[in-house]
Amino acid sequence: MLETERRDPASQALPDHSVVPAVWSRITNLDVDRGEGSWLITRDGQRYLDYSSGIGVTNTGHAHPRVAAAVAAQAARLLHGQQNILYHEPGLRLYDRLRTLLPGGPWQAFLSNSGAEAVEASVKLARAATGRPAIIAFRYGYHGRTAQTMALTTAKDVYRAAFEPLPGSVYHTAYPYCYRAPGGPHSPDACTCDWEAQLDLTFHQFIYPDRVAAVIIEPVLGEGGYIVPPPGFLPRLREITRQHGILLIADEVQTGFGRTGELFAVKHWNVEPDIVVMAKGIASGLPLSGILARADLMAQWKPGTHGGTYGGNVVSCAAANATLDVIEDEGLVANARERGLQFLAGLRALAARYPSVGDARGLGLMVALEFVRPGVGDGRVPDPDLTKRIQAEALARHLIVLTAGTYVNVIRIIPPLVTTADEVALALSILDESLAAAGA
Ligand SMILES: Cc1ncc(COP(=O)(O)O)c(C=O)c1O
Repeated sequence: MLETERRDPASQALPDHSVVPAVWSRITNLDVDRGEGSWLITRDGQRYLDYSSGIGVTNTGHAHPRVAAAVAAQAARLLHGQQNILYHEPGLRLYDRLRTLLPGGPWQAFLSNSGAEAVEASVKLARAATGRPAIIAFRYGYHGRTAQTMALTTAKDVYRAAFEPLPGSVYHTAYPYCYRAPGGPHSPDACTCDWEAQLDLTFHQFIYPDRVAAVIIEPVLGEGGYIVPPPGFLPRLREITRQHGILLIADEVQTGFGRTGELFAVKHWNVEPDIVVMAKGIASGLPLSGILARADLMAQWKPGTHGGTYGGNVVSCAAANATLDVIEDEGLVANARERGLQFLAGLRALAARYPSVGDARGLGLMVALEFVRPGVGDGRVPDPDLTKRIQAEALARHLIVLTAGTYVNVIRIIPPLVTTADEVALALSILDESLAAAGA
């Protein structure tokens, strides 16, 4: 073989999939060549409607031309500009821009690489700024796979159960999951969940409130099953945390950057957290994450007590600036709201026709169906097998959707925010066929 042939990837057969370790549990076995907007195109030219958005990342769609151009231009100038060593223009612009994205504050951003890393940063800052040790998180919550973030996570056993011992001083309390409330399912608008009493018990049984640095919450639960809280929940949680001098950390890794029909989900309830965690949609797929924190808290974080080699990578920052331009210029937050309403109405219509749909819910373009075994038990017994079959039937019809929930009985749908009304209608009709084919 000629040396030039050996170096040309196109002339070589692809290695077998088994080179990738099995720890990456698989959702599809597609060999993808490229992406365009809401679509992924395989090496053999098949088109798939990607309503996973790479787990909530490609909010601007795959390979948005403005983002791709910004990345290419920056990559040709500087690939790595380490944050302790120098300042770079994309970073300065992004730091400045991020602090204007939420009312209140004043805010200051910190930039890192992954969602879990940013959650770790939020916990370190909360402890450093308050001098308190404990963190309260919510049952069904997901915050990542590093040791600290596993300790915060309870969405599903697989995320943590094999990895004890985990960092301590983390306490979990009840989230208002209205569909699975002990007294029976009810509408979030008339919530009777006892989350506030459970939090009070946590303070009386486990940890004094004045020893708690922060409460961390996903404004809409992601991996736990796309659970939208009742309207009074976050405002009341904010009141309680303020009363005890506890910081409120909003983990907006999945809900952020327009996903729920607001730039950040906390805006739906006019709640001002002390720290917001950002990742996923921030840079359209390049690795970037960060926190937005009250500037007075950030000022208490001593130089050198946190950082990292790659945080705030210059190419990722260029991608993030272009992403924010696209979100603004193309009205993606409004589109998420409108397409979300269209999707939820369609899912509710499916729920009325298929007895296995226990609940249809969502906010913006974060929507889900929860599947149960009708007529069994109290009517809410989870049906993960059916859920898996529906996901497979959808994939066979070229629609990629994900699952979620503690019992993996939720189909979760995360379209890119550029998706069109026609694409949503197509996805709904594929889901209809898939539910019928799977015996829902
Ligand atoms: C709410 C939330 N927090 C944190 C994370 C962890 O982000 P990453 O996978 O980038 O570490 C995720 C990832 O799904 C998430 O949904």
